[in-house]
Amino acid sequence: MSKKIFISGATSAIAHAFARRYAVQGAHFCLLGRNPEKLAIVKDDLLARGASSVETVVIDFSSRHDYTATVNQAWQQASGFDIALLAQGVLTDEKRSHTDLAYLQESFQVNALSVIQLATVLGEKFAEQGKGSLLLISSPAGDRGREKNYVYGSAKAAVSVFCDGLRNRLNKTGVQVVTVKPGFIRTPMTTGFDQSGPLWADADVVASDLENAIIKGKSSLYTPWFWRYIMLVIRHIPEFIFKKLSI
Ligand SMILES: NC(=O)c1ccc[n+]([C@@H]2O[C@H](COP(=O)([O-])OP(=O)(O)OC[C@H]3O[C@@H](n4cnc5c(N)ncnc54)[C@H](OP(=O)(O)O)[C@@H]3O)[C@@H](O)[C@H]2O)c1
Repeated sequence: MSKKIFISGATSAIAHAFARRYAVQGAHFCLLGRNPEKLAIVKDDLLARGASSVETVVIDFSSRHDYTATVNQAWQQASGFDIALLAQGVLTDEKRSHTDLAYLQESFQVNALSVIQLATVLGEKFAEQGKGSLLLISSPAGDRGREKNYVYGSAKAAVSVFCDGLRNRLNKTGVQVVTVKPGFIRTPMTTGFDQSGPLWADADVVASDLENAIIKGKSSLYTPWFWRYIMLVIRHIPEFIFKKLSI
């Protein structure tokens, strides 16, 4: 049966690749994003691939919102969702965040608070419904703070810990809560990096792993899989060595 899918940060390359996999199965979508033109492009693409219907909601996650009202309206319109993917994120300019606290707050709002607040409302809805898959995109950057991206990383750590707790709380309700930790993925977010080499993967690899995680009822995943082992090593480097590294 075709799915009903809620996606925030729907213009993200990862989210779009994920949505395409369900569009061909005739899914219904509710897409949230800040840029109406980009949302329209994603909408047209999903409809052309076979989506049964696509609603769009324009929303900028850098400021506060009444997420309860937004989710309630989308939920009512769709008569519930099977899957929600929360994918919004911004790669924080680490240096700027050291002196510009308003900027730091804004990036934390997008990367952590907007995701946590949306997931809070969606978690309740899924629990009432007694089923559904709620996927939150975190990052390996949240596993351990590093000199080069600890502001971004600390927001992702908040998402990961929130996700652990929500999963624990909703465990008996039949709702699946998934923590997603993508490694280096070729998307607009990472265009400033050299995207070549064996550690880099395409958004479709993540999308495929997300679809499998839903089917297999997984709680968390690193994608591609080998990031689990990279992060296992990084997490276990003793602090007296780690604090001297520049990574
Ligand atoms: N790429 C990687 O290597 C990597 C690794 C680990 C985790 N992640 C995470 O994966 C998720 C998807 O990112 P991506 O790699 O697919 O990059 P992306 O294509 O740049 O997607 C980022 C998404 O966040 C949206 N966004 C940013 N600021 C926003 C705001 N203020 N209000 C509303 N939407 C906003 C963007 O909207 P616009 O399209 O309008 O800009 C876009 O939809 C993010 O949470 C990211 O942190 C990515």
